Amino acid sequence: MERREFLAATTAALAMPAWKAVASAAAVERHLIYAATPGIRNYMSYGGIGVLVFDASDGHKMVKRIPTWPEPANGQEAENVKGVAANAKTGRLYVSTTKRIGCIDLSTEKMVWDQTYEGGCDRIALSPDGRTIYAPSFEGPHWTVIDAISGKAITTLEGMPALYAKSRGTAAAAPASLHPLQQAWIDVQVPHCGYCQNGMMIQAADLLATTKRPTEAQIRTAMNGHLCRCGTYPRILTAIQKAAAVMAKGGK
Ligand code: FES
Repeated sequence: MERREFLAATTAALAMPAWKAVASAAAVERHLIYAATPGIRNYMSYGGIGVLVFDASDGHKMVKRIPTWPEPANGQEAENVKGVAANAKTGRLYVSTTKRIGCIDLSTEKMVWDQTYEGGCDRIALSPDGRTIYAPSFEGPHWTVIDAISGKAITTLEGMPALYAKSRGTAAAAPASLHPLQQAWIDVQVPHCGYCQNGMMIQAADLLATTKRPTEAQIRTAMNGHLCRCGTYPRILTAIQKAAAVMAKGGK
C-alpha cells in the first residue's frame, strides 16, 4: 500500500508526548501516535477497524492495534471515523464516527463506554482537563456537550424542554414549549443581570427531577453554592416553588 493512500484512509492521528501508562508508576515514557481507522472514507482495506498505535521514538513502527468496534456483518458498511482525541491526565482516548463516540481507557485498552448521540457526531474536541467533549452533530446545526467520564450528554438550558417532555413520556416538546422552570422564571421575572441564571435553572431542574415537592429548606440546600451577585434569591425560590407545583400536577 502506498504511504499516501494509507494516510488518506486513516483519520486524524494524535501524538501523545510524555504519555505514561496510567496503571503503572514505573512505566517508561513513550511517544506514541494513535490513528483511528477506517478514516473519513470507510475503506476497510486500509487498516480495518480499530486504533493503530505507532511508536514515534522508534521509526514510527506499528506497535499494535487496539480493537474498537467489530466488523459489520452481512456486507454492511463500517461507520466512517470522523475524529480522535485524547487526554494524558485521564489516560482516555476518544474516537468519533458519524454516529457515535467510543471511549478507550489506554491503561487497559478496553472500551469504557460507547454512546450514540442525536444528530450523530463529527470531529470532536476535548477540554484541556479531559472532562468535557464538544461534539458537533454530523453535518447538523447543533453541538452535543458530553461528560467525557461517563459519555452522557450534558443538558443545557436549550435542552430543558426536550428533557421535560422525555421525563413525561411524551414526544419532544415543540420549540416554543418551555420547561415549567423556564416559564416560572419568566412569570416571576427572576433575572436581573442574568449572569448566574443559567446555572440556577439547571441546578433547579436537577432538584425537581428527583424531588417532586421540595420544601423550602430542600430548595435552599440544593441551590447552595450558586451565587447571585444581584440578590435574586427570593425570586428564584418563588419560581422553583411555582414550577414544582406545576410539575407535581403533571402539567406544563
Ligand atoms: S442575576 Fe445577576 S448575578 Fe444573578
